[in-house]
Amino acid sequence: MISSNTRKYTVVSLLVNGVSHDVMIRSADTLLYTLREQLGLTGAKYACGNGDCGACTVLVNGKPMHSCLTLAIESINDEITTIESMKHSDIRSAFVANWAIQCGYCTPGFILNCHALVNEHPDADDEIIEEWLKSNLCRCTGYQEIKDAVKSVLEANKLKAKENSNLAQ
Ligand code: FES
Ligand code: FES
Repeated sequence: MISSNTRKYTVVSLLVNGVSHDVMIRSADTLLYTLREQLGLTGAKYACGNGDCGACTVLVNGKPMHSCLTLAIESINDEITTIESMKHSDIRSAFVANWAIQCGYCTPGFILNCHALVNEHPDADDEIIEEWLKSNLCRCTGYQEIKDAVKSVLEANKLKAKENSNLAQ
């Protein structure tokens, strides 16, 4: 909600990782800039700044978005998820277990993208995984390990679903 206005700045509330934050933004401030500079959430990275690399990926209402191309003012009323809230997620653990991290610069973006992938496509095959991963670049080229991490979560989720359905019978 817009709660006050000055000549250049507007105070708005952004819902980030389940918490509402009042931030002062200018109309051209990106979501990435606001998360990093106003809220100190530096997990999302600035790299290309033009939508090519995915280092700035966050989830907006559960969908991966390039926060370098999203205006903060567009994100009012949206639910924003950043890497800082993913400490205990299955996909983060799978990245660690599968050595899917090298320098780590691309990792926050990949983890969020992959989290959305396993949620949206519980039966994802190689083709779907390849397609989703196209939106993020890894200069260290650790793509195989990232795919292995995704597949390990998909398999674990299928196993859990099977166990739950057996228990329900
Ligand atoms: S920094 Fe946003 S896509 Fe590269
Ligand atoms: S781990 Fe270094 S850029 Fe991906």
